[in-house]
Amino acid sequence: MASGIQDDEEHNRINLEIALEVKSLRRIIGAYLNYPEAAEEDVRRNERSFERLPPAHKDLLAHLPFKFQKLRWCISKNSFFIFEMLKTFEPPLDMSQDIDVSENQHQSNASISHLLSGEKNLGSSELCLADGRVPHSQTDGPNSDDVICRSSKEMRTEQFNEFNAGSCCIGLENKGDGVCPNNEATCASSPGCNGNVMSSPPDWLDPSLQLHVPLVDVDKVRCIIRNIVRDWASEGQKERAQCYKPILEELEKLFPDRSKENPPACLVPGAGLGRLALEISCLGFICQGNEFSYYMMICSSFILNHTQMAEEWTIYPWIHSNCNSLSDGDQLRPVSIPDIHPASAGTTEGFSMCGGDFVEVYSDPNHTGAWDAVVTCFFLDTAHNIVEYIEIISRILKDGGVWINLGPLLYHFADMYGHEDEMSIELSLEDVKKVALHYGFELEQSSTVETTYTTNPRSMMQNRYYAAFWTMRKSMKMKQECLV
Ligand SMILES: C[S@@+](CC[C@H](N)C(=O)[O-])C[C@H]1O[C@@H](n2cnc3c(N)ncnc32)[C@H](O)[C@@H]1O
Repeated sequence: MASGIQDDEEHNRINLEIALEVKSLRRIIGAYLNYPEAAEEDVRRNERSFERLPPAHKDLLAHLPFKFQKLRWCISKNSFFIFEMLKTFEPPLDMSQDIDVSENQHQSNASISHLLSGEKNLGSSELCLADGRVPHSQTDGPNSDDVICRSSKEMRTEQFNEFNAGSCCIGLENKGDGVCPNNEATCASSPGCNGNVMSSPPDWLDPSLQLHVPLVDVDKVRCIIRNIVRDWASEGQKERAQCYKPILEELEKLFPDRSKENPPACLVPGAGLGRLALEISCLGFICQGNEFSYYMMICSSFILNHTQMAEEWTIYPWIHSNCNSLSDGDQLRPVSIPDIHPASAGTTEGFSMCGGDFVEVYSDPNHTGAWDAVVTCFFLDTAHNIVEYIEIISRILKDGGVWINLGPLLYHFADMYGHEDEMSIELSLEDVKKVALHYGFELEQSSTVETTYTTNPRSMMQNRYYAAFWTMRKSMKMKQECLV
């Protein structure tokens, strides 16, 4: 009898957890779908300001109405890309199910730990798909409130109010037949702007299911667009050379023997859009990227698994800010993606992307002592508790394994207005290193790397980080010392 009640409770908890997942996933999809309407609202705001000018000033700036039209055209191209990306996404949950989760219910179950967690072992069959696609597995519910938009957080000049953007259906018809920016050829309506053949959208993208989301969510979509440039455009090459190249060189130096028979295993927590993980895989590692943002996972899955060739898509990443542009041409310039065709890049078997919270997924005992290397790039400061991150990194490394880190300490949960109760342990670099020593790490090299993060290379504003770059090795002695 008691066990029957327990089963019911368990069943209800699981159902609630799934409902929350569906709700958060719908909100993310809603954010993507609301992108064109939110972008259009920005253009309308520009137009309203222009209309208020005295006639003499209007005459002086007579080109601006054309710029507004060009902006609309660029928005339609970005929207087309987004919609084609969404169409390839296979939701891990039934998106059509009825969800009615009240806030009270949500809060009273806030302590539910991630019931959906599954067991994912390094080397299990999930790591390789027969058709050569990069498996995007979900070991835990990727999170909704998670896009870390550094540049936006620091540099945003626009004020985003919490209002619901109007709904809008994107991509179904590509209305990109207006003026093309920079005198590009007029855009054909079908096939799509990029010459891609358009397929019909899945049921869960039906406009009637579309959510109205706060504009701040749409801002995350803009961050993703900037991240695409960082990881998958030629324009991002300079930033990748600053951040990823030192890490790749270090891995090559530390693992000279990367035989096909026995490749070393490398984990990249907070892998973003997956480029660093792919490059590590191409060096001959079994590499797994871990990422908990659906925003990121949807996009990385599209680029890694569904792009057919290099430069297949054209997007306009810089249109969303009128600030710090040297010219309108700069702001409206197209960017081709991806700069390489991921499927032909030469990855090592076992390359995968694993969805879920780093702490939840890699606390699983199956990961203990499983990894030869852990690479964290712009990730450590995403922690609520950075000590916990370091503890887990130490635990999942083999004895003698290496941890390579590159990034700043711009703690994500610091100064979060409205989230004052969010836990946020904000340590100095000195203290981070002390904690690492405590968990058995020995410092092998440490330096500073000057770099930008998702920065428009042609902007008049170039925020720079002096990022900490280190290699630490998990001491072989650690185990013995603990036993003494
Ligand atoms: C600042 S971005 C860096 C992305 C990538 N490493 C790069 O250098 O471009 C941090 C990433 O970590 C992810 N992230 C944050 N907290 C996470 C967690 N607890 N588990 C897994 N991923 C997380 C975010 O979604 C985001 O994609």
